[in-house]
Amino acid sequence: MTVPVAFINENRERFVKELVEYLAIPSVSTLPERKADVDRAGEFVRRQLVGLGFAVQVFPTARHPIVYGEWTNAGAGAPTVLIYGHYDVQPPDPLGEWRHGPFEPTIEGGNVVARGSSDNKGQHFAHLKALEAWMKAEGRLPVNVKVLIEGEEEIGSPNLEPFVREHQDLLRCDMVVISDTAQFAPGVPAICYGLRGLVYREIVVTGPSHDLHSGSYGGSLDNPATVLSRILSRLHDRNGRVMIPGFYDDVLPLTPEERRGFAKLGHKDGEYRREIGVPRLAGEKGYTTLERLWARPTCEVNGVYGGFMGEGAKTVIPARAGAKVSMRLVPNQDPKKVVAAFDRFIRSVAPPTVKVELKTHSAGGPVLVSREGPAVQACARAIEKGFGQAPVYIREGGSIPVVRTFGEIMGVPVVLVGFGLPDDRLHSPNEKFSLADFQRGILTSAHILAEAAAASPEALRAPPTAAPAAAKAATRRRPKARARPKARKAGARRKKSRR
Ligand code: BES
Ligand code: MN
Repeated sequence: MTVPVAFINENRERFVKELVEYLAIPSVSTLPERKADVDRAGEFVRRQLVGLGFAVQVFPTARHPIVYGEWTNAGAGAPTVLIYGHYDVQPPDPLGEWRHGPFEPTIEGGNVVARGSSDNKGQHFAHLKALEAWMKAEGRLPVNVKVLIEGEEEIGSPNLEPFVREHQDLLRCDMVVISDTAQFAPGVPAICYGLRGLVYREIVVTGPSHDLHSGSYGGSLDNPATVLSRILSRLHDRNGRVMIPGFYDDVLPLTPEERRGFAKLGHKDGEYRREIGVPRLAGEKGYTTLERLWARPTCEVNGVYGGFMGEGAKTVIPARAGAKVSMRLVPNQDPKKVVAAFDRFIRSVAPPTVKVELKTHSAGGPVLVSREGPAVQACARAIEKGFGQAPVYIREGGSIPVVRTFGEIMGVPVVLVGFGLPDDRLHSPNEKFSLADFQRGILTSAHILAEAAAASPEALRAPPTAAPAAAKAATRRRPKARARPKARKAGARRKKSRR
């Protein structure tokens, strides 16, 4: 069996056309009015898998269906690779900021611009096209493959953990591959070994029973919007530290070795600052930008509402005001403990003049995965073949709830092979995905299957012999003996940087 490189190159245009079709489906999982479109995206994935000759099952959940397909004709002695992705996307707003409709995919400067292009349709579609290449060019896959594409990742995967628990036999595999992260920089592919967790709260402050004329009543009661801003102002001190008592209790400190590993990647604050367009960076004192992003917890206000938000002026004391607040967690913080600490703190700083409600949106823990072992090595070799460059090892600030679930329940290695770029504008207007990276992703995926085939199932599954990931540094895995030319240093290539 040979890796179907020619097929992949010959079918490039058609692959892009199909991706464009997929991206045109507005599968926004959080919006109830998009339910039919979310289902349509699941159906698109189902048809793709059926077309590959996979045995496909669609599992309904309380919200959005889980699409599952498998091809296990490589036999019991061959390894089984599970590929995960999500067909749901984030809301596209603010709509006015898009150059084209968010669901009118447009090719611009070698990128496809659309909501979900990088996060995550383009990335897992690359895997589906690699499977197609193997099936059509070679008539088979070199390993057994299971594909699980869900529709609830962007709302915290609320129904996936019970599903994985109940279907452990169905999902049995020797390694999991997920492409829902980014390269470190253009030309610097990466394997990600750490993700932050996420807990999401909503604070609702209610004062009077109805909106009041701010002249007739102003001065005689506490204004819920003012109270809310007072509460929010207590979340951080002037050194960027989160003021919630106990918030940092379980935070695993960075080791000097890991700090050196981050530093070696050559992140440039100036370029990063210009990419995101702020006059000055900020954050927790005593940490570098990569440390703040990858290994320190945060508390962020995602949205604030209340009172008159229209154009012009209206004189009113709003009856209520609210804020959506999320916290990114790092090892070894416990989502439940953090939520409890947050709620206690908010209640302790809220005055008795208003009513405060706290609502849950989602809660998931942080994760570190291994950077050692045959599964990681197989992916690293495949990346080197697909991207022409060995990967660096990074952590990310975002969250993928299922990674923890897979690690805990199935106990197999999970490898995060990102095809995106750090400036792909995930969750933001004009999200993009490089078509060159789409192509390199397809190639890499095709190579991952071939590399996995060269190992035994037991070896792939085996836990690495090395020390826990948390205690090790972020370093290049490229053997020292093979000196790299200067221009290949991550720093020199790091044109764009992390979100
Ligand atoms: N692809 C992202 C996760 C991600 C973002 C990884 C940036 C690396 C860098 C994923 O689809 C995502 O956005 N997840 C949500 C999860 C949440 C809703 C539980 C996130 O991180 O906000
Ligand atoms: Mn996302």
